[in-house]
Amino acid sequence: MTDINIKRTQNSRINEVDWNNLGFGKIASDHIFVTDFIGGEWRDYRIEPYGPMPINPGNCTLHYGQTIFEGLKAFRTQAGHFNIFRPEMNGARMNRSAVRMCIPEFPVEHFVEAVKKIVEVDHEWVPRERGTSLYLRPFSFGTDDFLGVRPSQTYKLIIMTSPVAAYYEEGLNPVRIKVATEYIRAAKGGTGSAKTAANYAASMKAAQEAKKEGFAQVLWLDGITREFVDEVGTMNIMFVIGDELITPPLDDGTILAGVTRDSVLTLAREFGMNVREHRLTIGDVTSAFENGTLTEIFGTGTAAVISPVGELVYGDRVMRINDSKIGPVAQKFYDTITGIQYGEIEDTHNWIVQVNADEMAHA
Ligand code: COI
Repeated sequence: MTDINIKRTQNSRINEVDWNNLGFGKIASDHIFVTDFIGGEWRDYRIEPYGPMPINPGNCTLHYGQTIFEGLKAFRTQAGHFNIFRPEMNGARMNRSAVRMCIPEFPVEHFVEAVKKIVEVDHEWVPRERGTSLYLRPFSFGTDDFLGVRPSQTYKLIIMTSPVAAYYEEGLNPVRIKVATEYIRAAKGGTGSAKTAANYAASMKAAQEAKKEGFAQVLWLDGITREFVDEVGTMNIMFVIGDELITPPLDDGTILAGVTRDSVLTLAREFGMNVREHRLTIGDVTSAFENGTLTEIFGTGTAAVISPVGELVYGDRVMRINDSKIGPVAQKFYDTITGIQYGEIEDTHNWIVQVNADEMAHA
């Protein structure tokens, strides 16, 4: 691993944090990790103070959106260490997004080292309350000052961080979700499985309209038949129907390969549940609701963790799920995953990369 040069801020903003009102992504921590891709290689790994970056009006990403991002979290344990959840999964997924968007890959081991270092430098920013964490936002984008449409030849990769609480105002309380019938998010062959800005930009109109009607988010259907359930955009979606846990598969390349999705599926199989990665239609969902076999719906995501769906609305069909209360399956996954993240449940899967407070003190 190339050395990481560290330049610490002289003006920490940590006293500006309202720890009791963190919300999501409202304040950036003091430092960022930065590296530049120039002349065909990532170079000059550094940690520097967070602040404005100069950008040319002709920056290619502002015009054509050649950018990707990730989301992962660090948790403070009772023992005072810092647990980072599955960072190598995010590093690998970032590279898959990079390939799709013609952005150079970044070695996963360097990604994990950079993530550990930024958590170490800004460890004071990892909040203390259960349910809070330090959200890490790695992102990479083209930096060429050029208006032709082609992949940039230069890039930046940055990791910024932000102390956060729940993503949705509802917290662990069930959210209301509307099935999008007018707009689509992704189609086979498109960029749906890449964590790239365009997917999020394209989702905003539908989300804005749904929000006006009191929904937290929309559930996307496939872009071609508009029958198959895809994902929510800020989270993957899971259904408990009969004795099965069902979620859409990844093979169409239209949904994001969520880290929390993978963690839930792994745990579900260990719990002995019947797990099915299956292309479920919205018709299957409404029939299961009508015949009483649909007992739970919940979203999974790094930001959202486990987010129960209390009401799913499809056209004029209102499906109230489990009396709009969190169900036992969602609760069990929430308790297990957060238990592992906060170091309360043994990490038998090697999901945690720890920044050890004792080692930091002696460094
Ligand atoms: C995440 O869960 O980390 C996400 O990226 C979802 C959203 C905040 C964009």
